Amino acid sequence: MEITVDTRPFAKIDTDALATYAFEQEKPVDGAALALDAATGGALSKLATAGELTGKMLEATLLHYPQGLAAQRLLILGAGKKDKFGTVELRKLAGAAVRILKSKQIKRLTFLAREGDRNAEAAQAIVEGFILANYDSDKYKTDKKPGNEIIAAAITGWEESSRADADRGLERGRLLGESQNFARDLGNEPANRMTPRILASRAEAMAREAGLAVEILDEKKIEELKMGALLSVAQGSVEPPRLIVVTYTPEKLMPGAPVLGLVGKAITFDTGGISIKPANDMEKMKYDMCGGAAMLGAMRAIARLKPSCKVIAVVPSTENMPGGRAQKPGDVQIAMSGKSIEVINTDAEGRLVLADAVAYAKQLGCTHLVDAATLTGAVVVALANVNVGVFGSDQAFTDQLLASAKVAGEKMWPFPLDDEYREMIKSGIADIQNVGSGKGGGAIVGAMFIKEFTGDTPWIHLDIAGTAWQDDVKPWAAKGATGVAVRTLVDLAMKFGTNGSSTK
Ligand code: BES
Ligand code: ZN
Ligand code: ZN
Repeated sequence: MEITVDTRPFAKIDTDALATYAFEQEKPVDGAALALDAATGGALSKLATAGELTGKMLEATLLHYPQGLAAQRLLILGAGKKDKFGTVELRKLAGAAVRILKSKQIKRLTFLAREGDRNAEAAQAIVEGFILANYDSDKYKTDKKPGNEIIAAAITGWEESSRADADRGLERGRLLGESQNFARDLGNEPANRMTPRILASRAEAMAREAGLAVEILDEKKIEELKMGALLSVAQGSVEPPRLIVVTYTPEKLMPGAPVLGLVGKAITFDTGGISIKPANDMEKMKYDMCGGAAMLGAMRAIARLKPSCKVIAVVPSTENMPGGRAQKPGDVQIAMSGKSIEVINTDAEGRLVLADAVAYAKQLGCTHLVDAATLTGAVVVALANVNVGVFGSDQAFTDQLLASAKVAGEKMWPFPLDDEYREMIKSGIADIQNVGSGKGGGAIVGAMFIKEFTGDTPWIHLDIAGTAWQDDVKPWAAKGATGVAVRTLVDLAMKFGTNGSSTK
């Protein structure tokens, strides 16, 4: 999709569709809508009087050949209450405009921002909305209509004098939207087409294109490193595991500067292993690699935005399969850190692969760690598909991440990590066991297990089991992998290590 800034007066813009938005309770036309109403000879106020234009969030009104406009169509989207409106809503509206118009085979659109929204942040949100909404996971449909997408989109409303803001927002929005879609692409691939080896080669290609260093550790190297926890999950599969390491190094690297580690769970298929999952919904376990995909998507953007800190992504990838060589409930494994683990349930495999991956990230010099993982069904019980579960060992670092989530417009919610939960992973015969002994708190117990391997390093765990996959289509997004956490992680990396904002 080609995306541009158009600074012509909106009435002169000759596009397939001009899209904009109107708030509830504003008579309902004023501001930019007032100018639009005047230009169209009162079309908007007539619709409002007839009760057809109320401004309710996501209400869509489409006019053909609107009087006074060079555009062939005018799409007015309800924007809800003005005091509840922000970049989150703007991103959704821009996305909804794309999906409504592309469903009608329309190819070009121009999105008119309103007065308060003519800054770089708003331009970025609109462009992110465009790119995320134009995405569909129809790769394997042989009967899809050719070119069912918007090919050219523009943003308008900015004066020539603020064009630089619009351009800056546009470029950032494009990069973030495309990087998030990169993560979605990986997540949507079926498991037979996204094995650990394929994921590694996709990461390699991305890194090469972005100018990042990449190292793929194969099963031999993983064995040499004594990653017993990762290997225990991989041993049941004929597909060999991979440990993907992607590194961004800034041009000026201060000695002793903090290093951000991004560790992502990438189980390319989770059957549960010998503790096998029920058949119902098991096909969805191809998305058990979305934590890893999010980290790779974030690295793709970080490579271009060039933060001042070093960032290392560590992505442990394997299948979790039952089989003659698979690990059995009750087996004891020795992690790279030397800790012994009693594997009570082979379906709690994410924490096992992360145990070795966080230890390795620390060995590579990461001073701060964030992991993302589709770790527990329990986080879905707690937060449904609305919020990412956040578990942090360092308050200041966690606050930074939550602030980035706000900026990025991704919903995240913190959980406690009291010492009492540590009791629940005590094992009878090993140092720790991989599931809780008591009842409840499953998402926290999972986090607590990973924490064992982070030591004193400030660490945040993001449980994205509920949010990495969307079962139903939304007005602004296709169903399937969401690419959640990419935008937050990029914002965090951009601010990390600058003006003393790292916590140590
Ligand atoms: N990959 C699953 C978690 C999951 C569940 C992701 C639902 C997405 C949707 C994970 O490996 C798992 O199976 N966790 C178990 C842990 C339990 C055995 C302690 C779970 O949550 O049931
Ligand atoms: Zn599992
Ligand atoms: Zn899993």
